[in-house]
Amino acid sequence: MNSKVDAVPSRQKLATDWLPSNFDLRDTWFAVAHANHVSARPIKRVMHARQCYLWRENGTPVAAEFHPLHMAAMKSEYSEFTAGSGYFPVAERYGYVWVWYGNPANATLDLLPQIPFLPRDGSSIPAYMRTTVRFDGCSPLSVENLLDLTHADFLHGEVVGGEGEAESDEVEYSHTSETLTRTRIVTHKPVSPVMRWVGGVRAKYQDFRSTLHVHLRSNLCISYPRFRPGFDIPNVQPFVPSGKYRSRVNQIFNLQAAPLPFRHIMPRMAYVVGPQDNSVVRPQTPVYLSDNAPRDLHSRFDGPGARYRLLMKKLWERQQNGDFSYAGDADPGADIAALLGMDRALE
Ligand SMILES: [Fe+2]
Repeated sequence: MNSKVDAVPSRQKLATDWLPSNFDLRDTWFAVAHANHVSARPIKRVMHARQCYLWRENGTPVAAEFHPLHMAAMKSEYSEFTAGSGYFPVAERYGYVWVWYGNPANATLDLLPQIPFLPRDGSSIPAYMRTTVRFDGCSPLSVENLLDLTHADFLHGEVVGGEGEAESDEVEYSHTSETLTRTRIVTHKPVSPVMRWVGGVRAKYQDFRSTLHVHLRSNLCISYPRFRPGFDIPNVQPFVPSGKYRSRVNQIFNLQAAPLPFRHIMPRMAYVVGPQDNSVVRPQTPVYLSDNAPRDLHSRFDGPGARYRLLMKKLWERQQNGDFSYAGDADPGADIAALLGMDRALE
């Protein structure tokens, strides 16, 4: 027997390879914590293996490199991320505490992403619409997994339902140098089980449009699924990179439009769906880091996925060359309501 047929050829990593855990992109806001989790008592969060302590002073959030009790003693360890001050630029908006990761001199509130379906003052967001899920993989792999809409059919089928029987199923996407927007439009698909059981949707079939808007530097994913008959399930998933093998997602839903039982149950689904995603993401990061890994079978015909990799590599190259600026086509604070399809009806 010819052993060449069976053997997976080992190969050295190339400069052009997709190395998702390498993207330590700077000059961006990370939604590191749910705002209601930040109190007078300090908590610790991690951004790219860099620790960050959060607490409130007179109600205002503070983000520092060390625990407040150790700040004075650790003065010689203050880093470039706080320009030697020990304190990160910090902001509170949309129910999150945001910390600037990069050069503090470049931090500006204009670069906070706009989230059109969440109140800017997030204090009215109920606690049950918030979840936290941890993933054992680097953030870009989770974003890729989310971009790949077909994964939901086989991974979360019993929750969201397979779309296999739909009349039509189309994907479109657009991008800037800092964002990728992907929309999937499905017509006449069987109503998803969760919508039938707790969503009160009695129809057999429904139309579905789901837009995902990704901020590339921060891995912040803004998701806007619309079901008709049915309702909208807008939610935010910021994949904050804790390190090369870990990310943490503080998800917020806005389920004001959903019926009552669904409103309470949907956010809990994150604890079912999250581990399913994690089972796929967990083994991947080490494989990408290994020289003898099997070939990455990513398809060039997956338009949004291929574009995502290209845009991430471009950003990374620019930053490697010392360019941390936002290009003219990029405005994280721009109004994306129309882009998400919030004001569009589904026929
Ligand atoms: Fe998923």
